[in-house]
Formats: sequence, structure tokens, C-alpha cells
Amino acid sequence: MVRHFLDIHRLDAADLRAILDDAHARKAARKGWPQGRADADAPGKDRVLAMIFEKNSTRTRFSFDAAIRQLGGSSIIATASDMQLGRGEPVEDTARVLSRMVDAVMIRANDHEDVERFARVSTVPVVNGLTDRSHPCQILADLQTIEEHRGPIAGKTIAWIGDGNNVCHSFMHAAPKFGFHLNVACPAEYHPDLRDLAKGGDAVTLTSDPREAVKGADVVVTDTWVSMGDQDYEARLSAFEHYGVDEALMDLADPEAVFLHCLPAHRGEEVADAVIDGPRSLVWDEAENRIHAQKAVLAWCFGG
Ligand code: CP
Ligand code: NVA
Repeated sequence: MVRHFLDIHRLDAADLRAILDDAHARKAARKGWPQGRADADAPGKDRVLAMIFEKNSTRTRFSFDAAIRQLGGSSIIATASDMQLGRGEPVEDTARVLSRMVDAVMIRANDHEDVERFARVSTVPVVNGLTDRSHPCQILADLQTIEEHRGPIAGKTIAWIGDGNNVCHSFMHAAPKFGFHLNVACPAEYHPDLRDLAKGGDAVTLTSDPREAVKGADVVVTDTWVSMGDQDYEARLSAFEHYGVDEALMDLADPEAVFLHCLPAHRGEEVADAVIDGPRSLVWDEAENRIHAQKAVLAWCFGG
């Protein structure tokens, strides 16, 4: 069976735990090495990863490219607008063709359903590199970062403050799989998709009060109030006015609480400078861990 990495809730908890453990191990094993040197086991040797971007990206693009090189493979990167896909060639035909040419495909898509359609036809692994619905690779990097600084994720409490968006959805998918609790604080009109909320089950608590959400939390996380593709910029800025993460909010969390943000960040909107640039912020480790976590994801995909 082809091992796609489409959403965290689709994988077994044991596989997810093994992927995260592999991410930790791969990072530790190459400390101080130049970025381009392949890992000793090179599980991606001779493999080609295609990457398709329908939306902008800095971290996902560079981290996946670095990741496949460190696994011993190589990459081909294209924006959808440069492809026939951008002129209306069906997603399924694109999947059939690329399956004959590469060993795995990472896609960043506007419409989540397009990634599902691609994967239904693809005979090589497909990895979700962010859609309007979810961002599973980000959450693995976030969990790796938390474990590095605060120990095992099981039993921890994470507070998500702001938009009930794609990144929030993937956190909700991860909570029951990894055994942490997620408090989500967002305005009623920007709550998470109820189908994704249901996947979190008892592991997720929804509130509209950021202060309630951060109480006793080990981790405080936020993201932009206006995701790629969102049109209602002004309405969002006013709806999220009281959802910025500042030092006063961080002070209500656990004294050892750390701050995460997938980036890009908007200082003065969802996060204050003093928080993102302060001692509790782990955002640069979090960004780096995109490489390590995605190497573990790709190695798992290739192992199928
Ligand atoms: N966090 C994240 O996915 O960043 P990019 O949009 O730069 O890839
Ligand atoms: N929620 C953001 C995440 C960017 C990495 C977006 O979709 O634009």
C-alpha cells in the first residue's frame, strides 16, 4: 500500500510516534554537519521528490528541499502556475504522469480536495504541504520542538489562540493521537471546522476566552489572522482584536510555558514583539525542525 501523508488523523498513533522519534534521532545524529551531507542511512537515496506549490512558501519549500537532499535524494520544484495544472489539466492526469517520473510528491494546494484527488490516483506517496484545511507537517515540527524543550508531549496542555484555521485543525487531529490536551480560543465567527473539531474528541476544548485557554498551558501557539486565500482582511482584524498573544497573556500560562508560531508572523497583530522575540519563544527551533520532521515523514513514506 502506498504511504501517503495527508493528515495526522489518518495515521496510527504508533506510526506517528515512530515518525517523531525518527525526527529526534535524525536531528541528533547530524549535529554540526553541513546541511548538504546525507544521513548515514540515506533512506531517500536515488529517490526524487516533486514539489508543487499553488501558494507561496519559504519554510516548506526550503525545508523539503533540504530534507530530501539529507535523505540522499533530489527534488524537482514547480509552481502550479508554471505547470499545465495551472491551465486546467486535471489533477488526476497530473498525478498519473508524475507517478511515472518521481518517487514522491509534496503538494501545497488551495483546495484540500485537490490533494485528496491527487492521492487517490497517485502510485507514489503524496505529502500534504498545507491546504486550506490542514498543515500536518507543521504540527510534527511543533511537537518535536516542544519535546526538545519541555519533554514528552503526552499529558501536556497546548493553548491555540486566534483563528480556527488549517494549522489549528492539524493540532486538533494530533491531540488524541499524541495524548496532549488542546485548548482552542477563537472568536465564534472564526471557529474551527466542526468536522475537524470532532476528530479531536475529548482532547480538545473550545472557548472564546484566550485567558481561559492559556490557564496552566505548557505551550501557547498562534498563527496569522489572515491566511493565504482569506479575503475578509478588515473583518478579521477587528474580530481578532482581543486575541493577540502578549506578555500579559503568556504570564497566565504555566511559568515554564513556551511560545510557538509556524511563521510568517505579523508582529503587533497576533503576537507582540516581546513574545516572539523574547526568551519564551521557540519559533526558530520550530522552523528548523521542519527539516527534521519532514525527513522522518519522507523516510516513513519511502518505507511503505
Ligand atoms: N510555516 C510554513 O509553512 O511556512 P511557509 O508558508 O513559509 O512554507
Ligand atoms: N495559516 C497560514 C499558515 C501559513 C504557513 C496560511 O494558511 O496562510
